[in-house]
Amino acid sequence: MKGLYGVIGDPIAHSMSPDMHNDAFGAMGIDAHYHAFHVKPGDLGTAVKGMRALGVKGFNVTVPHKTAIMPFLDKIDPLAATIGAVNTVILEDGGYTGYNTDGLGFVSGLISGLDGPLKDHRALIIGAGGAARAIYYTLISEGLISIDVCNRTKERAEALISGNPNGASSKALSLPEAEDGLSRYSLIINTTSIGMEPKTEEMPIDLANLQADAFVSDIIYNPLETRLLREAKGKGARIQNGLPMFVGQGALAFKIWTGKIPDLERMKKIVLDKLGG
Ligand code: ATR
Repeated sequence: MKGLYGVIGDPIAHSMSPDMHNDAFGAMGIDAHYHAFHVKPGDLGTAVKGMRALGVKGFNVTVPHKTAIMPFLDKIDPLAATIGAVNTVILEDGGYTGYNTDGLGFVSGLISGLDGPLKDHRALIIGAGGAARAIYYTLISEGLISIDVCNRTKERAEALISGNPNGASSKALSLPEAEDGLSRYSLIINTTSIGMEPKTEEMPIDLANLQADAFVSDIIYNPLETRLLREAKGKGARIQNGLPMFVGQGALAFKIWTGKIPDLERMKKIVLDKLGG
């Protein structure tokens, strides 16, 4: 029988995950289908019960359900528990286990773009939401020691770094404080949605003090080049968009479900084709 997989979110209509995963299933000869399910917040618990009853083998979880889903699952992987968010669920022994592949998906894409070792960088994360938490904890677990967090609401940045388990050196900053001290950072990561379609002219932070040899990464992939990346490139910085993270988190989810690693370049091409670029 065809294995059923999917993604739940609200909104979900523009998700690129179905195209990406269905293509990979087909290319790898796996008899499965991946479907986008529109689930409103009030229906989340019922939706998870229904998926369990129907034998859905695995699914992704996206905005706004990544944290809210946790009480409805049977087990939570330790990294997902530390992050406080789940983006991948698998049916194991009749129960659902929640994982988080966002952080590792981001870091694997980042490392493939960086020149030197990750641990040599002094990093600044912009934002303190779920995506920032996933990236912050995964970067620390991958050996980054110096990593500050700035956010519009500074208290949320303080809350994020207060849970730091490995003694990394972190400071919480307001956005103006981060802008003033921007020249201190060799790696800058935007985790907010600022600059995403349709508000493509917005910037999460002013780049006046950016180091010319910095590496600037934005988790947004629509547009492929945000204003932040465009301006950073204009100042001589190296840039990376959110496509490697999106594909990376999807590939890791696919591996959790099937035990097989899909073709990342093929996944990237599917998304690029869908974006029209
Ligand atoms: P996610 O889980 O996708 O990361 P989130 O938890 O809503 O989403 O977090 C969004 C992040 O973008 C937060 O850091 C948020 O800042 P606040 O904590 O101050 O809300 C940031 N953000 C969103 N819109 C913003 C804006 N217009 N200006 C500055 N920061 C913004």
